[in-house]
Amino acid sequence: MSETSLKAFRDFAALHDPPTPFVAIDLDVVALRYRELTAAFPAATSYYAVKANPHPEVIATLRDLGSSFDVASRGEIELCLGLGVEPSRISFGNTIKKHEDIAFAAAHGIKLYAFDSEAELRKIADAAPGATVACRILVSSEGAQWPLSRKFGCDVTMAVDLLVLAAELGLTPCGVSFHVGSQQLRPESWDAGVESAAAIFAEARQRGVELSTVNLGGGLPANYGPEVPALEEYAKRIHESIANRFADRPVDIVLEPGRFIAGDAGVLRSRVLLISKKSYNAHERWVYLDIGRFGGLAETEGEAIEYPLVCENDTGAEVGPVILAGPTCDSADILYERKPRYLSLDLRIGDYIDFLGCGAYTSTYASVGFNGIPPVATYCYRGADLA
Ligand SMILES: Cc1ncc(COP(=O)(O)O)c(C=O)c1O
Repeated sequence: MSETSLKAFRDFAALHDPPTPFVAIDLDVVALRYRELTAAFPAATSYYAVKANPHPEVIATLRDLGSSFDVASRGEIELCLGLGVEPSRISFGNTIKKHEDIAFAAAHGIKLYAFDSEAELRKIADAAPGATVACRILVSSEGAQWPLSRKFGCDVTMAVDLLVLAAELGLTPCGVSFHVGSQQLRPESWDAGVESAAAIFAEARQRGVELSTVNLGGGLPANYGPEVPALEEYAKRIHESIANRFADRPVDIVLEPGRFIAGDAGVLRSRVLLISKKSYNAHERWVYLDIGRFGGLAETEGEAIEYPLVCENDTGAEVGPVILAGPTCDSADILYERKPRYLSLDLRIGDYIDFLGCGAYTSTYASVGFNGIPPVATYCYRGADLA
């Protein structure tokens, strides 16, 4: 996170002083990321993955910039439609949908759907006759900090059969989608999916079905640390991959960015509730916060996502290892233990700890009231207004 963004967050927090924990989203960073993405992928259509952060002000910001939207459920469809997003800019990309939700989407003019199995395809044909469909294929999530493999997609042979079947069912098969796993740190990870897509396009053509679209999914990273490659590296590698595999035909490119757009825009502010040790000679301190795994930091599961931490009252004193844990009476509510954090030895109860890069996959992951703790609140501001 840039110094300017951190300063804007601190100014917002000082001005409004909301009770902790809270997530604050800088809408100017959301807009900046969208502009960076469209500059890096000028020919692609971008469907923001609403699940990453469905705050109405985030959706409205992206709507005004011309983004399209990838939705996972009726709730997200209602949210987008309610904010004036045209149905033509909405894709129902979840491969596990309720029949009645597909019918709801179709009745409201949504035309684009994803599937990865025959049963789901038949559901779409029944509930949304004539819809346009993309087949999600299995790809590896290696290199992703939050993998999405195994559960989604089918293999190449099945994908061709299902796209041919889609045409027979009166649907319009448009192409292939895949997702290389979220927070994907290897730009080359898209190569295999693009290669499979090209093979599917060729095979489908032989069977009389013309495909047009490759949906590259999400996976572009938020900036949690120095190991994250720049967006330009992803764009270069992905464009090369497409040029190599689709040299003989034009192809429409779709992106479904979630974390890349919203992640860096958010800071989660928490407060230290307790600092303790488990024995007199223990080296590590346990630091318990007013937010944990169940309050929105679900992606610390397996210590997968390592958010950068900033202590606002950092005195510059020596640091020492801490095990960081949440406030609930559940021993799964430990954020970082295998990979301890290093925090100031001056850290005191009541100090703020800010988790950076928390704009995606935090607020809506929060439990509705585990241990009587309400879901984390979200606030939005415009960093430029505070500068
Ligand atoms: C279908 C689909 N598209 C896009 C995304 C967004 O992925 P990311 O946040 O890695 O960009 C997800 C995330 O789960 C997804 O399931």
